[in-house]
Amino acid sequence: MKRNGRARRRVIASLCPEAEVIVDVGADHGHVARMVGGIATERQPHRAGRPDVPWVIADGLRPFSRVDVAIIAGMGARTIASILEAGPTPPIVVLHAPDDPVTLRRWLAASGWRIDAEALAPEAGRFAEVIRATRGHEPATGPTLDFGPRLLRSDDPWLQDHLAQLLGYHQRLAEATAGRASALHDVATLRASFLAAQLASRRGTTPL
Ligand SMILES: C[S@@+](CC[C@H](N)C(=O)[O-])C[C@H]1O[C@@H](n2cnc3c(N)ncnc32)[C@H](O)[C@@H]1O
Repeated sequence: MKRNGRARRRVIASLCPEAEVIVDVGADHGHVARMVGGIATERQPHRAGRPDVPWVIADGLRPFSRVDVAIIAGMGARTIASILEAGPTPPIVVLHAPDDPVTLRRWLAASGWRIDAEALAPEAGRFAEVIRATRGHEPATGPTLDFGPRLLRSDDPWLQDHLAQLLGYHQRLAEATAGRASALHDVATLRASFLAAQLASRRGTTPL
């Protein structure tokens, strides 16, 4: 599995619609901004920033009066939420919270965002979950929301491997917490059975 971010950057760019004002918040080197023809931002001047994209020094989206699409990737779910809470609110966002996609999806659904598209990219031994959202109502709840309402219905080529990896993680967590930490154990057990059922339906088998 590839460890550099190229596959993830490609997926982010593929989920970004064409638009006049695309802002890549916390663009780091600026590779994604370059791919989508956007503006790259960082909170402080970035030594490694590529010179062939326009750079704006900005905390989140605050200095922009108009943003058609915001890309906010490679940051914590709470950081992404606080950038969007500070505004201005773009009509479309493309997001990736490596630490906690579940928290990010729950926040989106509770904050007037509808998950519109999702895709996976292999990165660092796991799968990055890239989420596109638009303003609106997200009808999914529970584990369907947590694990990706659009992703679970997609034919993403990495979905089976991703679900198997998540299933293994939650099964190990359920085993490790059996007989203690009962709230954690219950959540892990529920998630494991949901993921097992998802995998089985994709494989056309019945979960054990
Ligand atoms: C881990 S890097 C991710 C870089 C790139 N977006 C990616 O997905 O690979 C996070 C970057 O976001 C920047 N950052 C964090 N909070 C920010 C904010 N409020 N406004 C602008 N940039 C921010 C950091 O300086 C850092 O360069």
